[in-house]
Amino acid sequence: MTGLEDWKVVLIDDEEDIRDIMTIALEDAGYEVHTAHNGESGIQKTVEISPQIVITDIRMPGMNGIQVLEAIKKHNPDIEVIVATAFGEMSLAIRALQLDASDFITKPINDETLHLALKRAKERYTSRKQLKDYTALLEREKAETVQELIKTYTFQKNLIESSMDGILGCDENETIVIFNRSMEQMLGYSKQEVLNKMTLDRFFLPGEKDRLKQELAGERYGGKNRLLLFETTLVGSSDKTIPVQVSATAPLNQDQGGGLVFFFRDLREIRKLEREVSDQARILHQDKMMSLGKLAASMVHEINNPLSGILNYIRLMIRILSTGQLSEDRRKKFLDYLKLMENETHRCSKIVSSLLTFSRKSPPSFGQVRIDELLERCVILSQHKLQLQNIQLISDTEPNIPPVIGDFNQLQQCVINLIFNAIDAMPEGGKLYLSAAYDASKKQVMISVKDTGAGIPPKNLPHIFEPFFTTKQEGYGVGLGLSTVYGIMERHGGSVDVESKPGDGATFRLRIPVE
Ligand SMILES: Nc1ncnc2c1ncn2[C@@H]1O[C@H](COP(=O)(O)OP(=O)(O)OP(=O)(O)O)[C@@H](O)[C@H]1O
Ligand SMILES: [Mg+2]
Repeated sequence: MTGLEDWKVVLIDDEEDIRDIMTIALEDAGYEVHTAHNGESGIQKTVEISPQIVITDIRMPGMNGIQVLEAIKKHNPDIEVIVATAFGEMSLAIRALQLDASDFITKPINDETLHLALKRAKERYTSRKQLKDYTALLEREKAETVQELIKTYTFQKNLIESSMDGILGCDENETIVIFNRSMEQMLGYSKQEVLNKMTLDRFFLPGEKDRLKQELAGERYGGKNRLLLFETTLVGSSDKTIPVQVSATAPLNQDQGGGLVFFFRDLREIRKLEREVSDQARILHQDKMMSLGKLAASMVHEINNPLSGILNYIRLMIRILSTGQLSEDRRKKFLDYLKLMENETHRCSKIVSSLLTFSRKSPPSFGQVRIDELLERCVILSQHKLQLQNIQLISDTEPNIPPVIGDFNQLQQCVINLIFNAIDAMPEGGKLYLSAAYDASKKQVMISVKDTGAGIPPKNLPHIFEPFFTTKQEGYGVGLGLSTVYGIMERHGGSVDVESKPGDGATFRLRIPVE
């Protein structure tokens, strides 16, 4: 606030003596005093100096004090004007006060009255200034608040308008007051048609609106006054129906009355996608069925050979038996035939079971499979064969491999198929490396089966996973081992690949994701 040294007073009086006496009194009290001998020059001084206080005599030649007061107040209403009247001029004093003079003092002026009047003028001036500052501050803040409100409002309006979801709001009478662009697109009505004209009922199938409001009031979907991800059907223009997911809220409390806001997500696109995905799944399965059809055709051929062999032996044995006695010689022959028939039958059943694994549509029994357990089982199952063929097994399973989700038997069949192929590839003996490791970055387990056999010629590499592709002698391989591995890996979300150079063995790798 203004300090004492800053207080300026303009003193207007036509009598020089009075000007001198008052100047001394005022300067002693610390005021900066400027004097004028008549109204006109007093006003001029006031304009030049901008004092906070003017003291003016009333009776002066030329402009009188009342006129001076009016002029000064017109120039700057904040200036405090004290008028000095002669004793008994009460009516002029009252007139001055009506014209917003701060005070009047009566002549002859004594120091005490003067200081009292000045003190009051100063207080008036200060509090008026404070009030003004405060009002200005309020004005500024109000302007900022209005700006802020406009910003928020525009932002929210844009947000509502540009939302992918349809947003619809209604007041307490269910009259629509918000209807955004997505809503227009979804229902085929324009804002003009809807806003303040239509009510909620227009957009719902009969009964649906009440069901929705009931759920909104209840706790089931998202709590009281909130509704989350509820499915319903909307009715648009020309009565088209649109499946939607709706969330809703009552923004005001129940006792405040108020409307509702709904958020609708058009489910037509999602429904279409869902249909496409299920179509795709069907096509994929069909595709498999078609290759299965082809497979069956070649399988007929594969099974037909052993079957006709078996049939021939059976007929031969029936003929021989029907002729009477069985000589020792024949008996031995019959044993040979039965052994052949056993082999062929075994071959048929192998084909059929491989095919069954390949064609299975859904995973039969998925569960947690521990890799160390799996490999241990495979080693036990192949130990005998390995020993017979003089093959050294070098096995290396990393500790702490996380379990995979899969079918233990099928995974075991994969590893066994790879081990048996490796064994077949090393008729003169050799080394078989069986290892398992976990790749944390890819979140997958890798099982590899490596042999020191003859390897796979490049021209065969593209075909080895095809059903019935085999390079093995009749009676030794069916050509279903690797295609079975392939099918099982697919079902586990995994993969199988091979690396081989002729003369340098082959390495098969299974990769199975860890969930
Ligand atoms: N470790 C390997 N070394 C060399 N060749 C291999 C190896 N594994 C597979 N192959 C080649 O891939 C072919 C196909 O293998 P696959 O396991 O599918 O059938 P198969 O072993 O011939 O018969 P099946 O496994 O049905 O008894 C084999 O015949 C062989 O030529
Ligand atoms: Mg095989």
